[in-house]
Amino acid sequence: MIRLLGLALLACTSHATELGWNINFGFQQNPLNPDVAVAKLKSLIPQLNYSKTFDYNATVLAALHTHGIRNMVVGIPNSDLQSIATSGNPLVGTILDGLKPLYDDGVQLTIAVGNEPTLATYGTAYSPWVYPALLNVRSTLSNKYMNKVKLTVPFDSGILGTSYPPSQGIFSISTASVVTTVAEFLKNEGSPFTVNLYPFFSLVDNPTDVSVAYATLQTGLTASDGITYPNMLAAMVAAVRAALLHQDPVLTEANLPIIVGETGWPTSGNTYATVENAQTYVNNAVNCGIPLYGFEAFDEKLKTSGSGSGSTSSVEGSWGWMSEGGDPKFPINWPTGPVAPAETCDSKFPPATGEFVKLVCPPNTLAGWLQSGSCQQDSDCDVISCPEVPKDTVVATCSSV
Ligand SMILES: *[C@@H]1O[C@H](CO)[C@@H](O)[C@H](O)[C@H]1NC(C)=O
Ligand SMILES: *[C@@H]1O[C@H](CO)[C@@H](O)[C@H](O)[C@H]1NC(C)=O
Repeated sequence: MIRLLGLALLACTSHATELGWNINFGFQQNPLNPDVAVAKLKSLIPQLNYSKTFDYNATVLAALHTHGIRNMVVGIPNSDLQSIATSGNPLVGTILDGLKPLYDDGVQLTIAVGNEPTLATYGTAYSPWVYPALLNVRSTLSNKYMNKVKLTVPFDSGILGTSYPPSQGIFSISTASVVTTVAEFLKNEGSPFTVNLYPFFSLVDNPTDVSVAYATLQTGLTASDGITYPNMLAAMVAAVRAALLHQDPVLTEANLPIIVGETGWPTSGNTYATVENAQTYVNNAVNCGIPLYGFEAFDEKLKTSGSGSGSTSSVEGSWGWMSEGGDPKFPINWPTGPVAPAETCDSKFPPATGEFVKLVCPPNTLAGWLQSGSCQQDSDCDVISCPEVPKDTVVATCSSV
């Protein structure tokens, strides 16, 4: 029996970690047509099995389907929210009819209802419609015998009013109500919570306190709460989890998994937007066990305005892994299979209360963690469980030996 002091149970996730690309052909800004573009992506990453798109364009979804993508997050734009929130409006039925052939062929579909609908710059243009829209999509799915479709709402990181220290994360006053209503709905139906997280913007906004190494996921940080966060993306996920738990203690990892709906790093338009930093960030992000969708597959050079959670628009067109013509800008060590939550990138931090343990084991070893205690390694999933330690004491994982 392997023993370990002070670490508590982590629910072993047997499902594959979701890893995919946001593939945006929204405004005809990509010179490649969707079929050629997806073929290119698949040729470079044969195991690619997850995609996220910002709308329900049939040409794009057909291209993803043809090239073997079996898990799709399909977006309904914010501009449709009011219509689909209105019972009797035919739009939601039309959208679902377009998805039905994919559903019938066994594609795992998640519908993203809106995109960052509570973003501060939108005011209250969209947020009142999110929950009624969710309800209407769900009931229409039921009418069409498409019950296996999951729903989610990608939020921007601005839902956090407090994000530091991460274990004290709290939603902002203006968003807490709608975010919590959505979170409870998603929890009750077994759908995931989605949030878009960009360490890049935290670095740009606060280079005095945030180091490039922390933002590019190379180093950890011991925050003022005494917890050592293995990297900035994990710390941001931890802050969102803390905020969910602050609203309702049942909004745990097991009940409502968090998926990062967008993350990435641009390559021009800012001092920190270099190919070198992008390569470091993306490689660390896709290999750290946090379910995520990279933003984005291809550059969008014609994009001019800073829509999204960006604090600057000058970087907006250069988030692609590939140029618009389909040439990779840097190599990615894309994982070949499910990524176990790695000790170096543990996002499963505990709620705002409890006793925390500083994580000190060397990368890729269990050995550094093993001290006398009441824990043992789960032989199935290389996760350490400590059944005698109160679950809320601390949660931690370690990569396999
Ligand atoms: C769908 O995407 C294709 C390819 O980008 C584009 O040509 C077409 O106009 C789009 N259709 C709609 C309805 O936006
Ligand atoms: C792709 O995803 C589907 C649906 O989740 C799954 O059944 C299939 O095994 C996956 N394929 C590969 C090669 O991982």
